[in-house]
Amino acid sequence: MTQSDIHAAVQQRYGAIADSAAPSCCGDSSDCGCDSANATLYDSALLEGLPVDVTNLSLGCGDPVSIASLNPGETVLDLGSGGGIDCFLAARQVGDSGYVIGVDMTPAMLMKANANKVQMGAHNVEFRKGQIEALPVTDNSIDVVMSNCVINLSPDKTAVFGEAFRVLKPGGRVSISDIVTEGEFSESLRADMAKWSECVTGAIDVESYTGLMRETGFVDIQVVSKVDAEGIVPRQDGMPRIFSARITATKPV
Ligand SMILES: C[S@@+](CC[C@H](N)C(=O)[O-])C[C@H]1O[C@@H](n2cnc3c(N)ncnc32)[C@H](O)[C@@H]1O
Repeated sequence: MTQSDIHAAVQQRYGAIADSAAPSCCGDSSDCGCDSANATLYDSALLEGLPVDVTNLSLGCGDPVSIASLNPGETVLDLGSGGGIDCFLAARQVGDSGYVIGVDMTPAMLMKANANKVQMGAHNVEFRKGQIEALPVTDNSIDVVMSNCVINLSPDKTAVFGEAFRVLKPGGRVSISDIVTEGEFSESLRADMAKWSECVTGAIDVESYTGLMRETGFVDIQVVSKVDAEGIVPRQDGMPRIFSARITATKPV
């Protein structure tokens, strides 16, 4: 399986989800996969005032904004911004003097995000087309890199962390929610592109994940929480245990 095969499978899946996104696509079901509305991951007070088109296209596995401790005036980058929910939440916290950039490779998802931006009248948010392994963002320009259920989908996680490091200012922070495992998937499971694009078989062991971040140069790497993800991603026999983790780190000054 080449990297472009994986990108194509992921893009195909999220393009189809964006194209079919409709209010109540998930309803109250508790067995939603990563392809369904997951706005219940957030404190309801946070979501107040967000249009249903934003909350119903929430495909994350956590809430990276709440652990990011954002300050007014900061510049935030969201890796794999989807319909934009975390960008809009961050935009409220950084205010008019701050700025939020969402990067996503899926054109249909960018169209949804931009339509949501217009609906919200958000002036401090911008969505850019690009791959998180080669970010369309200037060096040393970002205060906080966040991401919600996306890095597990990347075929080159080393490149993603390298890019996050490159674009962060010295002292900049990382705030991630992502799917991780205890143990690794077998090569045959990893080759299952459907499961990969459902945020399952692209996930790697949490120690490997934080190890890659350390090798990139990040410091103060903390797994803030790690909870069983079986309610979010379906696990089958022969798979390692799967978790939704919140991970923070810093680029040294
Ligand atoms: C599971 S969804 C999460 C979306 C959003 N973060 C949220 O919480 O709703 C994954 C998103 O990441 C994007 N994505 C996946 N891999 C990517 C990559 N390598 N480069 C850029 N975007 C990617 C997909 O297009 C999709 O919009």
